[in-house]
Amino acid sequence: MKYDLAVIGSGPGGYVAAIRAAQLKMKVAIIERYSTLGGTCLNVGCIPSKALLDSSELYLQAEKHFGVHGIGVSSLKLDWDTMRGRKDKVVEDNVKGVAFLMKKNKIDVHTGHATLLGSGKIAIAAGDGKHTEIEAANVIIATGSKPADLPFAKLDKERIISSTEALALKSVPKELVIIGAGVIGCEMGSVFARLGTKVRIVEYLNSAIPTMDGTMGKELGKSLKNIGIELYLGHKVKSVESKGKKAKVVCETPSGEDIELTGDYCLMAVGRRPYTDKLGLENVKISTDQRGFIKVNENLETAQPGIFAIGDVIGGAMLAHKAEEEGVFVAERLAGQKPHINYRAIPWVVYTWPEVAGVGYTEEELKQVGREYKVGSFPYKALGRARAANESEGVVKVLADKKNDEVLGVHIFGARAADMIAEAVVALEFRASAEDIARMSHAHPTFTEAMKEACLSATENRAIHL
Ligand code: FAD
Ligand code: NAI
Repeated sequence: MKYDLAVIGSGPGGYVAAIRAAQLKMKVAIIERYSTLGGTCLNVGCIPSKALLDSSELYLQAEKHFGVHGIGVSSLKLDWDTMRGRKDKVVEDNVKGVAFLMKKNKIDVHTGHATLLGSGKIAIAAGDGKHTEIEAANVIIATGSKPADLPFAKLDKERIISSTEALALKSVPKELVIIGAGVIGCEMGSVFARLGTKVRIVEYLNSAIPTMDGTMGKELGKSLKNIGIELYLGHKVKSVESKGKKAKVVCETPSGEDIELTGDYCLMAVGRRPYTDKLGLENVKISTDQRGFIKVNENLETAQPGIFAIGDVIGGAMLAHKAEEEGVFVAERLAGQKPHINYRAIPWVVYTWPEVAGVGYTEEELKQVGREYKVGSFPYKALGRARAANESEGVVKVLADKKNDEVLGVHIFGARAADMIAEAVVALEFRASAEDIARMSHAHPTFTEAMKEACLSATENRAIHL
């Protein structure tokens, strides 16, 4: 079988690349080692985690916050099997949706593990022992990533688990220790804390979500504590052990003492590693960096002409929408177009409640690069819509160039931040000034008015409602 393009991996990078290439009239094959399409994102990542985040937040609202609206709940019951079952059904519907899209776009789906054999040849080993070979003029590697662990603490998938196992636990744990207060730690920690688990998160650095804007980490830290999560910031993990039905974590406090934390499970959320196992990189001229990420040039092409790589396997922001942009980029380049990706305008979101979202430079990065900036901010508590919704916890922070007012970064902590950040992405892509946004009409009463007010505050410190 000879194709114009073969895509290895059906995550958001791979399947979106395949669809775009098919739209551009290429004959496309996609190869996936698992029986369902959609990769990490649809099967064990974005989609199942958001399903549980939404369900658990509803439970918390019913338990703690319905009262202020005058809604009484007399016998609130948590049915974990149903909650988990709903999550599984959401995943099933989504992966079926991708299979439908493959059919619709006439993309051949090959199920099995792909190995590069060189010169456009790919071997596919199916689970039933069947072996096929296909040929393609171009190849996109979109093999994604797997959970990372620590050299002294390997995942046993029983008590020392990754997000994959955490998303499929048979019952809600009584106690959970999480290593890493990054995105997975904060999101999965929130799911279980809302359902009654005693959650303790150990983080090496001094803030939750430490790579994001500092204000966001501080605000999120406070709100995690409000739902009962204990944060052990600045703590160094020394050992993680599985002991019968418990996991035991020893860590060193900032003052140098050792403390022991025990949970039914220890969830390792210390990042993800690129996945290139048995991909046959040695058969082609493709090299990886020290951490195993595939090296690519500005066109996302590897050292082997005609073989491209996208998504988590090349590093950068490990986000589904970043992988998608890269998939579209390669497909369009192969069709002779001249696409462009503005990596600075790729937003990120943490789906806790309140949510955190950001795009562009953080304040720490602006300081680091020595760019002169001004800050505008607006608190949710001054916002009518937020008060009406009983969602007054939050802030919008706008960073703009001190001289020409160009929006350089926007960071939002608060209800609906995930959706609100889209406006900031448009601002960055069109190189809007804070005043441009401030002069646009924002519907009243909406959460987006906080964005307008923060831009007014950045412009001449002239927010109206503050
Ligand atoms: P993947 O989605 O990892 O897909 C790679 C695919 O390639 C896999 O299906 C794999 O089986 C297949 N494959 C690998 N090797 C081979 C081979 N040799 N042959 C055949 N097939 C192969 N990102 C967001 O943007 N928003 C979120 O809310 C979000 N939530 C997340 C929650 C969790 C718990 C996790 C773990 C991740 C989350 N992410 C989120 C990150 C997101 O899932 C990844 O960035 C995204 O899936 C990367 O896409 P990809 O296409 O590069 O790779
Ligand atoms: P992460 O990189 O977000 O966070 C890892 C955290 O672990 C960091 O805060 C780090 O300082 C800490 N850490 C590392 N080693 C440690 C140690 N020895 N002791 C204590 N703390 C330690 O990685 P995470 O949360 O595992 O997520 C992996 C990837 O998945 C991320 O890159 C993220 O982009 C993606 N993802 C995205 C989501 C979203 O977009 N909402 C949701 C979940 C995951």
